Amino acid sequence: MHEATQMEIKALKQAAASHAASLVAAGMAVGLGHGSTAVAVVPALAERYRRGELAGTVFVPAAHFMAEALRRHGLPVGSLDDWPVLDLGIDGADEIDGNLDCVKGGGGALLYEKIVAQAARRFVLVADAGKLSPRLGTRHAVPVEVTPVALAPTTGFLNEIGGNPALRLRPDGDPMRTERGNAILDCAFGPLADPAALAAVLDARAGIAGHGLFIGLASLAIVAGPDGVRELARPAG
Ligand code: A5P
Repeated sequence: MHEATQMEIKALKQAAASHAASLVAAGMAVGLGHGSTAVAVVPALAERYRRGELAGTVFVPAAHFMAEALRRHGLPVGSLDDWPVLDLGIDGADEIDGNLDCVKGGGGALLYEKIVAQAARRFVLVADAGKLSPRLGTRHAVPVEVTPVALAPTTGFLNEIGGNPALRLRPDGDPMRTERGNAILDCAFGPLADPAALAAVLDARAGIAGHGLFIGLASLAIVAGPDGVRELARPAG
């Protein structure tokens, strides 16, 4: 099988995104994450909004980039202050396993993305099939968002637990900062035998503001591949 080109991947992301837009109904409060696939949902939503199919729907973005895309397309933008419980959350992912657990944060919006995902009654992933993985950590490092004052001790801690952390840099070589002003350490743990156990270790460490392991949050993944768009449900149990 040939390696998908960037154009093909873009088309797959668009196909999955268009399908995801059909899950939104009038009157819903809908969380939307960050990244190219989540942003690709916006034009399809705008089309439905213009046709009058989404009256009273409000969209809660997990990043400035998404807020700008929503506003540019004339869609109503809300905040978690006003909509602390969302009917639906839609977001992309960097790596998705068979339980629909995933790694996120490749775009640097992981903490706010997880807050939005946890606020949603139903959280749906949208991705091209290249994101599917037998084991999280195989295809993507785990991003860990760190409060700047804790950067040195957290780097040591992540080294001790086998994370081999690398400080994420901007193209100009300066450390990247999230919208919350935090640093990101990309951790190459390798294939994870127990992602939930690692998530619990990271959750327990002071100075770690968030991490890219999204465990038990998604109930559905909309995945586009060469054979079309599939809906994958989280296995029971
Ligand atoms: C943003 O920080 C990420 O969590 C994205 O959701 C993830 O990187 C997927 O991005 P793409 O949809 O651009 O592949």
